[in-house]
Amino acid sequence: MCLIIYFLKFSDGGGIGLNYGLVADNLPSPPRVISMLKSRNVARIRLFEPNHDVLAALRNSGIQVVIGTLNADIPNIANDINFAKNWVQTNIVPYAPTVNIHCISLGNEVTPGDLSSYMLQALKNLDRVVKNSGYKIPVTTTIGVYLLTSSYPPSSGDFSEAAKPSMQQVASFLGGNGYPLMVTAYPYFAYASDPGNIRLSYALLNSTEVVVWDGNLGYANLFDAMVDGVYAALEKVNGGSVDVIICESGWPSKGNGVFTSVELARTYNQHLVKHVLSSGTPKKPGKKVETYIFAIFNEDRKSPEVEQNFGLFYPDMTEVYHINFNY
Ligand SMILES: *[C@@H]1O[C@H](CO)[C@@H](O)[C@H](O)[C@H]1NC(C)=O
Repeated sequence: MCLIIYFLKFSDGGGIGLNYGLVADNLPSPPRVISMLKSRNVARIRLFEPNHDVLAALRNSGIQVVIGTLNADIPNIANDINFAKNWVQTNIVPYAPTVNIHCISLGNEVTPGDLSSYMLQALKNLDRVVKNSGYKIPVTTTIGVYLLTSSYPPSSGDFSEAAKPSMQQVASFLGGNGYPLMVTAYPYFAYASDPGNIRLSYALLNSTEVVVWDGNLGYANLFDAMVDGVYAALEKVNGGSVDVIICESGWPSKGNGVFTSVELARTYNQHLVKHVLSSGTPKKPGKKVETYIFAIFNEDRKSPEVEQNFGLFYPDMTEVYHINFNY
């Protein structure tokens, strides 16, 4: 009986995850972090690289994990099938039996850029090896929402000319396999760079009224507008069937004057949790957006000062501010 109740409670947190960034020299051990996350009912995490200490700590935890590859591995995975085999053998095979691997993401925000020409072949190679090894683990990649040249209104969403050829290939691969696309989306950066034109409550997700109309769709927050902008851009490269996962979003608690405070960060992240667990976007109201907050910890080896202050927790595991993950 207890077990059943526990399971139901645990699965409630399904749509929200946390980014487990490790760019710090003072973080607690992964087993302590994983048990803290379990006690807080966090159902998913994202790793930027296949860190073996974290993967080992995830064994039998029930927590789902998105595993990233290093950007530097992308050309090797594309050019050398044996490198891809070895990557899976090293980073997936030892953990797959007892770790709930949600998907593998090739690199982080490499499109457009030198590495994007390798992306399609890298996706194909890694997917082939994963399938041949008997796993059903989606293989995808991570882009930044800033690849959209146009996103206002959301239906005008379109990838930049530089990104489009690569996004066409990626969307066709993902759509053909039924795999999602990972996107990083930060209303904070949009607001902080253009506070004259973006209303704070629209960025913070606490506006009670529609701020932007797009045809008959009303947008009360910039997060939804960003997600629907990506959906619109995907439709323009024949990727209308591809689901979007927001693999990073968040708000720093200090470092940029009036744009950052504990109160602003708490407001954004708490509304984000509530929002993505309860509804979809105006364009796809029935489709809840799986979302990962950046990040679990303040990371002291990141560049000062905003980048060091995205965490929900200090390295001693006390809260920077309280977030309720259960709705
Ligand atoms: C949204 O939250 C901010 C920060 O807590 C607050 O200052 C503001 O009044 C809130 N806006 C609305 C419309 O509730």
